[in-house]
Amino acid sequence: MLDGCSCLVLLVLSIGIAGVNGQLDFLGFINIDCGLPIPSIVDNGDTSGNFQFLSDEQFIDTGINKQISSLHSPEGMSNLYLTVRSFPNGTRNCYTFRSLTVGNKYLVKGAFFYGNYDNLNLAPIFDIYLGVNYWVTVNSIVDTFYFPEIIATATADYLQVCLINTGKGTPYISWLQLKELETSMYPNNPTVDSSQSLVHVLRFNLGASYRPLVRYPDDHHDRWWWSQTAHTWLEVSTNSSVGNPDPEYDPPSFIIQTAAFTSSTKEALQIRWTSNDPSTKFLVVLHIVEIEDISKIDFREFDINCNRDTWFESVNPGRHFTQINGKNVTANWVAFQPTGYTSYLMSLEATARSTLPPLLNSIEVYKFANATGVPTDVGDVTAINAIKENYKVTKGWSGDPCIPIDYAWTGLRCTIYSNVPRITHLNLSSAGLTGELISFFGNLTALVSLDVSGNDLSGALGTYLDQLVALKYLDVTGNENISSTLPPGLQKRQQDGTLTFKSKIGEFTQQSKKKKVPVVLIAVVGAVVLLLLAVAIILVFCLRKRPDNQIYTPRANENTGSSPLTNNYGGNYAYSPAANISHGNNAGQNYANISKPSGSGKGMLNFDNRQFTYNDLKQITNSFQNNIGTGGFGSVYLGVLENGTQVAVKMHSHSSSQGVKEFLAEAQNLTRVHHKNLVSLLGYSMDGDCMALVYEYMQEGTLQDKLRVNGRPLSWKERLRVACESAQGLHKACNPPLIHRDVKTDNILLNTNLKAKIADFGLSRAFNNASSHVSTAVVGTPGYLDPEYYQSYQLSEKNWLHTSNV
Ligand SMILES: *[C@@H]1O[C@H](CO)[C@@H](O)[C@H](O)[C@H]1NC(C)=O
Ligand SMILES: *[C@@H]1O[C@H](CO)[C@@H](O)[C@H](O)[C@H]1NC(C)=O
Ligand SMILES: *[C@@H]1O[C@H](CO)[C@@H](O)[C@H](O)[C@H]1NC(C)=O
Ligand SMILES: *[C@@H]1O[C@H](CO)[C@@H](O)[C@H](O)[C@H]1NC(C)=O
Ligand SMILES: *[C@@H]1O[C@H](CO)[C@@H](O)[C@H](O)[C@H]1NC(C)=O
Ligand SMILES: *[C@@H]1O[C@H](CO)[C@@H](O)[C@H](O)[C@H]1NC(C)=O
Ligand SMILES: *[C@@H]1O[C@H](CO)[C@@H](O)[C@H](O)[C@H]1NC(C)=O
Repeated sequence: MLDGCSCLVLLVLSIGIAGVNGQLDFLGFINIDCGLPIPSIVDNGDTSGNFQFLSDEQFIDTGINKQISSLHSPEGMSNLYLTVRSFPNGTRNCYTFRSLTVGNKYLVKGAFFYGNYDNLNLAPIFDIYLGVNYWVTVNSIVDTFYFPEIIATATADYLQVCLINTGKGTPYISWLQLKELETSMYPNNPTVDSSQSLVHVLRFNLGASYRPLVRYPDDHHDRWWWSQTAHTWLEVSTNSSVGNPDPEYDPPSFIIQTAAFTSSTKEALQIRWTSNDPSTKFLVVLHIVEIEDISKIDFREFDINCNRDTWFESVNPGRHFTQINGKNVTANWVAFQPTGYTSYLMSLEATARSTLPPLLNSIEVYKFANATGVPTDVGDVTAINAIKENYKVTKGWSGDPCIPIDYAWTGLRCTIYSNVPRITHLNLSSAGLTGELISFFGNLTALVSLDVSGNDLSGALGTYLDQLVALKYLDVTGNENISSTLPPGLQKRQQDGTLTFKSKIGEFTQQSKKKKVPVVLIAVVGAVVLLLLAVAIILVFCLRKRPDNQIYTPRANENTGSSPLTNNYGGNYAYSPAANISHGNNAGQNYANISKPSGSGKGMLNFDNRQFTYNDLKQITNSFQNNIGTGGFGSVYLGVLENGTQVAVKMHSHSSSQGVKEFLAEAQNLTRVHHKNLVSLLGYSMDGDCMALVYEYMQEGTLQDKLRVNGRPLSWKERLRVACESAQGLHKACNPPLIHRDVKTDNILLNTNLKAKIADFGLSRAFNNASSHVSTAVVGTPGYLDPEYYQSYQLSEKNWLHTSNV
């Protein structure tokens, strides 16, 4: 612990070094804590404590500061998430990073944690643009962190991050970070350049299950490397740091110092992710370095396949080199760009002559995003922003003035000249402008029409207006004290008849300024307003009742879109700094739950389960010879995998009362949770009509049989242990908890050591931590249900305890 004195010193230091002018700090970062009210005060920042975060005041001039609900901010949560900035007004609101270098690459990361800051308990959906280009849609889930990331080239000396209201709730943001990357990174050809950027999909550190996250300072770009492992993978690590031979992707040494490999040369090392759009192109970067001390006679070599394509043959992860296509290369990474599918299975498969299984240190997957939107001419942008600043224009102007057209600023129109948008029409009529017409109007050199009527402008029309060589219409009427004398250039054009100039006060015809409103109109409007007010009050009164019935927010728990099984695979998941895996829908979105990690750091995997074909299953079970039981789902057969592991293959029967839904529920839940007291799912099959789940084999069968029929009765001690282990499986296994809904002796299985494991998650559903109860239809086996639950239909953690009456 630091004593008070050194804390003070640190604080003083950190204020000294942070980029208080909104410029890159000496580490190359700009870190912004959104919604922090005091300008330029350094927040203690992230849990890592390594960063200074600035208040966002100097980066944006719209939006309001909000605090998240205390019910959604557990103890120990980083300060960064306690405040958000939210944007009730305007379609587009943008943060601006200034003083950047044109042509340099930047890694931009946003953080979104809804935290019920608006008490609506309904997280909004909105879009994020980087400048004029679409980046990602934030589809927040209550109590879930979301960290989108993009690597892009700056086409101007600033970059803007814009939140776009798409009509599905008020956009908000928790924090924002920008990091300048070396120009050698993510090289121009073929990856990041001014026409395309990279949107983060997944970034995994393999073989490091003891360490959930590697980030700054170990990665000096603060890329987040989440530990991932499949329970069939083995791990190897080295304590000697690995020099960086790879300036392109600059992996931190810690990432290279650990690796995962499969248990045999027969087993491929596989990673999956999904895409909503088959035309999306991905960039996959694999870091492959031999860190195991392998003997002279051993030899590791594998092919790298993705779906039907072989990208690299006979890769040999030499300690200091990699062999690709028979050539020695000094770099220890490979990169490839698959496209054309909605689901990707990357598979590292040992070659026939390899004596060692495939090995992988880490993987990064990005998707290419178009950066083809061309922003408005820089001169126009500078001028219009100066005009906005000078007159404090309150039209909600934010982001690029012209692009995208749907979000162009109100009061102006643009035309594209040789591919670059220019401002051609500017209407600041009755916009409250005061003082002189500043010279920046003269910098809008493509202007065709300028209307500043109905303001309080004064003074001369300066010669700078002569720069407006395309001007055809100028209206300064309704400004009492403005000169009506044009500068010489414009005067000539007026005489030519190429310019229409309106200047006389009398010509100003709009009603908005100083026009008397008839008394009758006031009365009518007043009456209408009163009526509307009354209706509004009644409505508000009625609507206020709703939240009570809305404690369970379906979106928080339920996947929409494709089947849960496919959803559950893919790199759509990440841990928060201290969290478990959760689910997300779109490739490139990283959700993580707020809850603390449970028990083991290993597992909780969504992509490790093996997919079997019907023929595989037939082979494994020796043509379904050994039927070892029948459940609600169908028959269960004993099988043996290639490596000798005994498995139970649960085939779905067509006559089964449990259907596809339960099948998927089970698959999804078991891929989400791994616990020593839950039966492990090793794989599944969805081959045509054949649906099957492959489990570890529990030799001693069900507890029910053990209690009722089989030979030796269980001792009291054994019974107690079985009960405890079952309870652990139910209560400790996962966070947020799962409600099993059908716990009975039938569904408790025992292995050779009489260790108990819970099976049959076909009826379970995820339990929303944040709510106090869940209302669902009553399901399960009568006689095993909690009577309270049976009567009330209200499932809570309390009767969930009762439900597990072993
Ligand atoms: C939103 O607009 C309303 C009326 O236009 C204004 O009163 C309010 O201050 C604005 N709020 C923000 C956050 O800009
Ligand atoms: C690495 O160092 C740690 C502690 O210093 C030690 O426990 C571990 O065994 C070492 N690992 C290897 C592979 O040398
Ligand atoms: C690649 O490098 C290894 C180790 O230095 C060497 O034995 C081998 O001959 C090289 N292969 C080729 C094709 O250059
Ligand atoms: C990217 O831009 C190209 C050319 O402008 C266009 O054909 C393509 O559809 C765009 N892709 C996406 C995903 O928007
Ligand atoms: C500018 O906008 C006002 C209304 O906001 C409109 O009456 C006027 O015609 C516009 N001027 C031009 C040149 O279009
Ligand atoms: C605006 O125009 C003036 C000439 O009137 C020029 O000197 C100045 O550099 C321009 N400003 C910008 C920001 O382009
Ligand atoms: C115009 O100028 C006169 C004299 O300087 C001043 O009294 C008046 O307030 C000005 N009007 C406006 C609208 O600024």
